[in-house]
Amino acid sequence: MSILSSLRPGAANLDESDIVAIVNHAREMPGLIPLWVGEGDLPTPSFIVDAAHQSLVAGETFYTWQSGIPELRQGLADYHQTHYGIANDPQRYFVTGSGMQAIQIAVQSLAGAGDEVVMPTPVWPNIHAAAQVSGATPVHVEMDFSENGWSLDLDRLFDAVSDKTRAIFFNSPSNPTGWTASAEEIRAVLEFARARGIWIIADEVYSRFVYDADRAPSFYDIIDPDDRVMLVNTFSKNWAMTGWRAGWICAPQEIGQVIENLVQYSTSGVPVFTQRAVCSALRDGEEFFAMQKQRALASRDILCDGLLATGKVRLARPQGAFYLFFEIDGHVDSRDLAMRLVDETAVGLSPGTGFYTNHSQFLRACFMRDPAQIQVATDRLVDWLSHQ
Ligand SMILES: Cc1ncc(COP(=O)(O)O)c(C=O)c1O
Repeated sequence: MSILSSLRPGAANLDESDIVAIVNHAREMPGLIPLWVGEGDLPTPSFIVDAAHQSLVAGETFYTWQSGIPELRQGLADYHQTHYGIANDPQRYFVTGSGMQAIQIAVQSLAGAGDEVVMPTPVWPNIHAAAQVSGATPVHVEMDFSENGWSLDLDRLFDAVSDKTRAIFFNSPSNPTGWTASAEEIRAVLEFARARGIWIIADEVYSRFVYDADRAPSFYDIIDPDDRVMLVNTFSKNWAMTGWRAGWICAPQEIGQVIENLVQYSTSGVPVFTQRAVCSALRDGEEFFAMQKQRALASRDILCDGLLATGKVRLARPQGAFYLFFEIDGHVDSRDLAMRLVDETAVGLSPGTGFYTNHSQFLRACFMRDPAQIQVATDRLVDWLSHQ
């Protein structure tokens, strides 16, 4: 028996993320413009870094509260009051060591062997993998693409729910398509889940990155405190903090001890200096966030307009998040294409093969970046396309 085959199959058989595979192929390439992962080009603003520094200097280097320091849980309650108009008890917020860990905890608390988690696809591969790591089966519901936009057939979504389904994983605005559910769609999903007694894991990480409104329609707008809904989120995106690893869950208070236990038995809590930093992001980060959103909007239009003008791509201008998921005519193997593109243009894109979709010929580009750099990346791609 090989060493590998002696591992638990659920761990040993996880797919390597196709995104990571391409990053590993070319991460050190000179002149690279990396549009492959979900982050921008700006470092964390200094007022946030300073808060972490002060905390460390003050000796906040000990174990901490499993659910988050009281100041941060209060900060999250205030933040949601401001941006979502809801008066939640701070005890409903649980601080996690990333949005990814928030997803993992939500899934782990709901689904294991023999259970199913239903999710629209294309889907961020980590969401699919979180279900697998937990021993559950991810069930995919394909979304439809047209140049007018991506859409989700709710009947198809509901038909995919079986008596094994423990949760619908609902990511809006979506990574990778930018599709953003309407208020009516969110209400229909909530009503269906209530009627069936299943959970919703609502991933609203990109909730404030929508380009025709202040924020996307949210489950916060319609849920009662004891609805079976967990909302997962992250500090990574709004405040350029991907390297810090901090996120949160909003959940019914009744399951608070379960979430605390899952934190205790994994990371045992988020470092206090990180929590101080994200407190300052919540409190003083609006100007920085507004600037990021402005840059993303300008960059989205540069990329979309440039690619559309070639007449060789198919895309729908994303309403939300900061990704463009597009197709290049005549190319069906996006993994091979992403390898070629990075080798020949030094623009790093993610292949659609990583997103568990029938639209696997698509490519994903993250446009959360200086518009001037997105212009250079667009020019390179347009030039490459002109030789096709
Ligand atoms: C849809 C979605 N959810 C959650 C996350 C988690 O972010 P992080 O683990 O950096 O907090 C990401 C990151 O790309 C994402 O795209």
